Amino acid sequence: MVSGPMGRFTFDSEGADEVVMIAGGVGITPLMSKIRFLAASEWRGRIDLIYSAKTGRDIIFKQELAEIQRRFPALNVHVTITSEDGDWRGRRGRLSAEWVSAVVPDIAARRVHLCGPSAMAASVQQILHRLGVPASHIDVEAFGARMERKNEDGTEYGIRFARSGRAAIVLGDVTILEAALSAGISLDHGCRAGVCGRCKVRLIGGEVAIDCDFVLTAEQRAAGLILACQAHALSPVVVDC
Ligand code: FES
Repeated sequence: MVSGPMGRFTFDSEGADEVVMIAGGVGITPLMSKIRFLAASEWRGRIDLIYSAKTGRDIIFKQELAEIQRRFPALNVHVTITSEDGDWRGRRGRLSAEWVSAVVPDIAARRVHLCGPSAMAASVQQILHRLGVPASHIDVEAFGARMERKNEDGTEYGIRFARSGRAAIVLGDVTILEAALSAGISLDHGCRAGVCGRCKVRLIGGEVAIDCDFVLTAEQRAAGLILACQAHALSPVVVDC
């Protein structure tokens, strides 16, 4: 069965015949959902995926992308790596205007879906601006707000797990999931990457920062749900587990 793209970052293929997707690190995850959908629905357009990974070993969905390319040749994958990898034979270095315009020469006329860490997303938006892509043609999903909140300063916070009646004291760089597990609470979890949603819990009190969240809807977040694997305390916190 083919299902539509997952998550809150959606793509409407109606009326479009070409799209550029730019991903950094795990930012490829929501874009992959769109690629699967477009390939499975035999979309007639062209997709250029520009992907920045740390090393060749960090290319998420490497095999699946190669497999999709075999049956959907309109998918063009352009990868660059940013860290040392002696086995890598492809492009190295961060995304640059020169490289982006070399792999997608008509980028100024294309729609761009961008997903990655906030610093990378900001720099790519500047690159796209320089290349003449109108802001109205760019959809952005950035994550990593925690990096900007600077909560890794050695401050400890108390976390109370209301339903199990347990508590923990943790540093701000410890996730709520790690705190729960170390307190002996068997909190369900899976990917630890903000993708599967199994670790969602309700925040009853306090403030948290979220690294990345590809799964919760605006309604779920408004109802107080958070991903425990991505949440870090910014104050004393109470969660419902
Ligand atoms: S464990 Fe998958 S989203 Fe948290």
